[in-house]
Amino acid sequence: MAATPPLSVTAIVMAAGKGTRMKSALPKVLHTLAGRPMIFYPVQAALDAGAARVIVVVGHGRERVEKYLAETFGKDRVESVVQAEQRGTGHAVLMALPAATKAGGERVLVLSGDTPLLKSDDLVALLEGAAADPSSPLALLTATLADATGYGRIIRRDGRVVGIKEHRDCSATERAIREWNPAVYAMRLSFLQEHLPKLSPNNAQGELYLTDLVSLAAAHGGVVDRPADSSSLEGINDRAQLAALDARMLQAIARRHQLEGVTIRHPEEVEIHDGVQIGEDTVIERGVVLRGKTRIGREVTIDVGCVLTDVTVDDGVTLKPDSVASQSHVGPRAQVGPFSHLRPASDLGEDAHVGNFVELKKTRLGKGSKANHLAYLGDGEVGEGVNVGAGTIFCNYDGFHKHVTVLEDGVFIGSDSQLVAPVTVGKGAYVATGTTVTRDVPAGALAIARVKQENKEGYAERLKARLRASKK
Ligand code: UD1
Ligand code: CA
Repeated sequence: MAATPPLSVTAIVMAAGKGTRMKSALPKVLHTLAGRPMIFYPVQAALDAGAARVIVVVGHGRERVEKYLAETFGKDRVESVVQAEQRGTGHAVLMALPAATKAGGERVLVLSGDTPLLKSDDLVALLEGAAADPSSPLALLTATLADATGYGRIIRRDGRVVGIKEHRDCSATERAIREWNPAVYAMRLSFLQEHLPKLSPNNAQGELYLTDLVSLAAAHGGVVDRPADSSSLEGINDRAQLAALDARMLQAIARRHQLEGVTIRHPEEVEIHDGVQIGEDTVIERGVVLRGKTRIGREVTIDVGCVLTDVTVDDGVTLKPDSVASQSHVGPRAQVGPFSHLRPASDLGEDAHVGNFVELKKTRLGKGSKANHLAYLGDGEVGEGVNVGAGTIFCNYDGFHKHVTVLEDGVFIGSDSQLVAPVTVGKGAYVATGTTVTRDVPAGALAIARVKQENKEGYAERLKARLRASKK
């Protein structure tokens, strides 16, 4: 839910850096946590804090980052600007200044693309701090760690923030400072416009440091600082940090669902992605993975090891162990698994049953219909109350085209039958076990296509004697 900020706000998210330590062809900010690229979270936090517009500074891998942003957020409130050469955080914001000027607003929130645990509540508190002290042109979050190695340190005089020094520019005494700069700022737009173009690269890295604005702000009205919790402000520089923050985010998500009435027996052993919805009294067992746009209803049981991606599961469904489903729908009280595979565009009606080693693809199974054992149902339209026997196969593919198999209401398919599509079995018809159906079956008919059985009396003993003799 977006907050109404005390000031009109534009946000700039710096995300042009290479992320060298990720050692990856993928831009750092597109590496995922809880199922979403890292860049999603600070952009969403800025929107949630009430930013009217978010400007993302892109550089490395910019086409992919821009594509993701456009697909995810659209163009109304989120835009990107290019920083072709990464000449420091001050330079990154400088590249966004024309867009920020165009967007207007009293304050500019400046964030980094690599701090995914950032809370919009902290941004709101920062903006409130800024609003409470209109003479100050810059407000920032600060945090404290026993060892702040690597981070810029907060320099105070008489208790007031007077500047930030980068780790590598710090003296030995300054390196002992535990208060560090999370790089989350709310700056007055007019202050940025006046001072940002004047920054110079007088530092160990020869870059334009955004942090140099802090001492300028101290001299031009003072700095407002708001303490925040280090744990939500950590950045990601390598894959070990990525895994650590991913785990923390997943734990927080699982906990949120628990507090909303979902039983998760082993929260440290499930993976529920950001954005997944789960109803009350649903039970989630160990090893379950819920991804993407998955929506789970109430009183659903998701047993050990199920993996669901973009699946809608209605109330009262039971998913037995090790079932895998993608882009599908499971209707009320249906039963799936163990070991079922619902491939994209599968749709199970109310009370439908799909059992072990049954694979569905683009197949609708009507109310109360059952395919309980060892079957492949591809491109099927199955009505209500249909029974599909063990080993049934919808032969849907001729090497060039996919064809549809239609089973009307009340059909019974005997075990080990093949339906060579396109083919329709009419209402209430019966297909005998072991039949290969190649022509439509009229409603109410029996289809049987198999070699007639012959019993040769006493033949078994004679056959065995002959085989025994041939072995000598
Ligand atoms: C920065 C801060 C430091 C702070 C730390 C917190 C400066 C000079 N230092 O250091 O005080 O403690 O963040 O994590 O600001 N970026 C660009 N273009 C550039 C350079 C960086 O877009 O030219 C982006 C990066 O992609 C990244 C963010 O800005 O998302 C921060 O840059 P990074 O190089 O990681 O800064 P730090 O050295 O961590
Ligand atoms: Ca960083």
